Amino acid sequence: MNELEKKIKKLHAAQSEIPLDELKNICTYIESNRDNFTSQSPFFHLPKKEIGTSFPVRVNTLTQEIDIFLDRDRPFGQGQIRIAMRCLQYDREEMVVIKILETTQPRSVAKFLQDAHNLQMFQDEPGICPVYDLQQTKIDDHDHVEMIQKFYNRGSLRQFTQNHTPTAKQALSIIQQLLITVSHLHAKGALIQDLGPHNVLIHADNDSVEMAIGDLKMLKFCDQINPDTFDWAIAFKFAPPEYWKHVLNITPFSDIPKEHWQKMDMWGIGCCLWYLLSDYPLPWDETLFFDPVTMLNSTTEIAEPKDSESLEYLLWEMMREDPTQRIGAQEALKKLRLKY
Ligand SMILES: Nc1ncnc2c1ncn2[C@@H]1O[C@H](COP(=O)(O)OP(=O)(O)OP(=O)(O)O)[C@@H](O)[C@H]1O
Ligand SMILES: [Mg+2]
Repeated sequence: MNELEKKIKKLHAAQSEIPLDELKNICTYIESNRDNFTSQSPFFHLPKKEIGTSFPVRVNTLTQEIDIFLDRDRPFGQGQIRIAMRCLQYDREEMVVIKILETTQPRSVAKFLQDAHNLQMFQDEPGICPVYDLQQTKIDDHDHVEMIQKFYNRGSLRQFTQNHTPTAKQALSIIQQLLITVSHLHAKGALIQDLGPHNVLIHADNDSVEMAIGDLKMLKFCDQINPDTFDWAIAFKFAPPEYWKHVLNITPFSDIPKEHWQKMDMWGIGCCLWYLLSDYPLPWDETLFFDPVTMLNSTTEIAEPKDSESLEYLLWEMMREDPTQRIGAQEALKKLRLKY
């Protein structure tokens, strides 16, 4: 096997979904034209005529590495502040996700950088999305920030459960991995805050399933939180009842005992477990206007299951109305290991 054939084989193994014949054409083209790329603009399209398809390609001006962008029509992931694009890295022979934000709004940039900083801080913990790079770039003369992350082939847990009914084994494995990660972060005094199926990423191949938390932009350390000025920032759909009580001025955050602040994250894990176990969405899933009174009523009427040995019961324990009664990550993990 010559060098070119080896390259094609490795890139094919990265599961980019580029058909093999197109991949062969792309590699042949890049190998024979690479020296000319640097003089072109950082973004360009591979010539359709020669290749049979046309993916936008970029040459990194610093490293000269080549990224093949796979999402031509719309981004793979669309977040509130940024987009996520899938990319095949030609030189590293790996699929990655590039998260891109134009730097027009300082608040969004600060959140983006906070996320990168927090993910990087916890890279050695299990179940945290690997971050490969953080850089500033110009796209069409506009400044952007970019974060390069490991690609999770099923996207968020929400996307995963929408496209596929998880097997019992997959559901159990995902929730166990998630509880391990959250236990580690909680032991370090962190409150993740915006935890839910939108920020948990899934990679599944045949039998194995791997999850990672992919977004830590709202993470805070409990010791640094001033309860009187606590800045709630959470996706409405996955916000616990105490959030709605705060909005409605029923109970301020400062009334929640400090040792139970992290229970907010348990509600988010409960939402994840709900989508893993149930064919039905959360009762308020279709809500477009999050009326606090309606949300408080809906989030506080989850019925206690009869079978206290069931996974549904554990889910209920994660979604108890009162955070002081809600199960913690360590305890939930212990239960899960003992019973399932
Ligand atoms: N590493 C990754 N691998 C695969 N898909 C990803 C990855 N990171 C993000 N995505 C997809 O992109 C979406 C948006 O990502 P991200 O959470 O970074 O954006 P956001 O601006 O924080 O939005 P949100 O408010 O929905 O959390 C995710 O819900 C997921 O579908
Ligand atoms: Mg997010």
